[in-house]
Amino acid sequence: MIVSTAVACALAAVVTAYTDIRHKRFMVKNIDPIVYPGQYRSHMHSFFGSDAVTKDLPTTADLQKGCASGENPNDLSVYCETKIINIEGIPTLYYVRGPTDFVEVNPGMFSTYYENIDKAEIPYPQDFFAIAGNATARSQSDVNEGTTGLTWWCENGPEDRQNRNRALMPRVTCSGNIQVILRFPDCVQTSNIKNYAYTAANGGRCPSGMKRIPQLRFSVRYNVRSLFPKGWSGTPPLKLACGEVGEGYCFHGDFINGWFDDAQKNLLKATSRNQWMRVDGARGEGKAGTTCGPKDREPAKGTSDYLTSVDMMKMH
Ligand SMILES: *[C@@H]1O[C@H](CO)[C@@H](O)[C@H](O)[C@H]1NC(C)=O
Repeated sequence: MIVSTAVACALAAVVTAYTDIRHKRFMVKNIDPIVYPGQYRSHMHSFFGSDAVTKDLPTTADLQKGCASGENPNDLSVYCETKIINIEGIPTLYYVRGPTDFVEVNPGMFSTYYENIDKAEIPYPQDFFAIAGNATARSQSDVNEGTTGLTWWCENGPEDRQNRNRALMPRVTCSGNIQVILRFPDCVQTSNIKNYAYTAANGGRCPSGMKRIPQLRFSVRYNVRSLFPKGWSGTPPLKLACGEVGEGYCFHGDFINGWFDDAQKNLLKATSRNQWMRVDGARGEGKAGTTCGPKDREPAKGTSDYLTSVDMMKMH
């Protein structure tokens, strides 16, 4: 399915950032505390934010005891995304030569944007968590771009989305980074925070009984040209831990709220459609940077090796 240009432009127009926070990856591991709490059986995820996260689903208070990998000391949320790997010199998944052929692609930039804050009624509730995207998506029809905005493109061109499914990775060599975006639900039922939804799936409003929250958007930029400077033509030699080579359909993300409430009050003030605002709090300025040295709290548990994680998934 190719989305028409009109729809594409409409989607582009709503991408107005009010504030964003940049994060460094501090852990790669086969855990997913939301989908598989307490277990080492997930595909590989990259973790950003509070290093208090382990295989067990943390509360907001748990996360706030950790060290943030992001630049804002008031945001101890956990952000996690599907790991991407570069299969060196191998065009398809079926020709895997061994563990050393898999190279981790560490995002050059991982940013979390908060959007449509002017429409938010409440801050993120304590212990709120959400998943965006579809980890089992295998085609464009399994992807809902209208809600998640999921699309891959070349940050600085060339633009080839008109010639391919928009959630596939680019079929042309990007002049710079490969970029992907993903939006999170913007409505939650306060009496049952596991119930969340997208306004985009409900005529632009929250379903009755739900309140509107700021909309989180992941924006990830991968500097793949540094890994294979000659580029590619057709399917790029990149694979998400959840999917097939060159496919971006299964890209998904997790968010677990670790915002301190005093800073969330400031987050809710970032309502300008045009002006970026820094979100400060009692723990420091929003761009103070991280100095605490975030790290994996349980380095001996689970695995950070792709093929080992595939074996561990088969055991279930
Ligand atoms: C997610 O992908 C699966 C295919 O594995 C599909 O059956 C399912 O409908 C998709 N879910 C959504 C919400 O689109």
